[in-house]
Amino acid sequence: MKIGIFDSGLGGLIIAKSLIAKLPEYDYIYLGDTARVPYGNRSQKTIYQFTEEAIRFLFNRDCELIIVACNTASAEALRKIQQNYLIERFPRRKVLGVLIPAAEESVEKTQNKKIGVLATTSTANSGAFAREVKKLMPDSQVFEHAAPLLVPLIENNGIKWSVPILEEYLKPLLDKDIDTLILGCTHYPILKSEIGEIVGDKVKVISQDEVVPNKFKNYLSRHPEIDEKITKNSEREFCVTDLTESVDSLGKKLFGQDISFKLVSLN
Ligand code: DGL
Repeated sequence: MKIGIFDSGLGGLIIAKSLIAKLPEYDYIYLGDTARVPYGNRSQKTIYQFTEEAIRFLFNRDCELIIVACNTASAEALRKIQQNYLIERFPRRKVLGVLIPAAEESVEKTQNKKIGVLATTSTANSGAFAREVKKLMPDSQVFEHAAPLLVPLIENNGIKWSVPILEEYLKPLLDKDIDTLILGCTHYPILKSEIGEIVGDKVKVISQDEVVPNKFKNYLSRHPEIDEKITKNSEREFCVTDLTESVDSLGKKLFGQDISFKLVSLN
């Protein structure tokens, strides 16, 4: 059986790349819902429906465990998937998200207990990061800020225009005196150096591509019963729900090498 990695589109390839680098022997299937991306400005109901379809697709493709690399889906759909859908439909399989690893890392790093989060509009409005951080550190203050222009900017070769936009998005968080910043969206690791320049040395930046692989490796070592079911032939399969030239070129940019995508349908 395999490890599934799901994202609304191609941003999750950044996490896929770092996971594969850390745990290369495992077999992976990546699914990007490129026909319906972005999820970040959609309603909770729609994000849940799309996520459930993706989870079903990956389990039917022999995944033992799925990592939801998409922060928006992790924020808006994961809890219901874990608490209802899995129990009813796939009681022995697992679905993990990317919010908790980042939340855990932020409480380890913060000293003044003021944590900022930059995310899509849906994720920021859901309050999911604040919920997870406060479970671990109830007296922390968590400030979530929506940054809706960043995903289209990254996807359309606009990184060169990102600095003034980032300054605008980061100012309200810096005004709150945060000492830790969670990058709460698949795409934002691409902007790590620009963000680091703006926030300066006093703010620790938590990037999921650095955090998730270590936490996941640790999870597998604590769950040998899951680990032994996952096949280890270094196989990779990359599926998308819409295939265009821009999928090919953005995929290459985010994953760092050419990818041969398969076009699939979730129905
Ligand atoms: N994958 C999404 C996330 O991490 C960003 C792209 C989208 O809005 O669908 O929140």
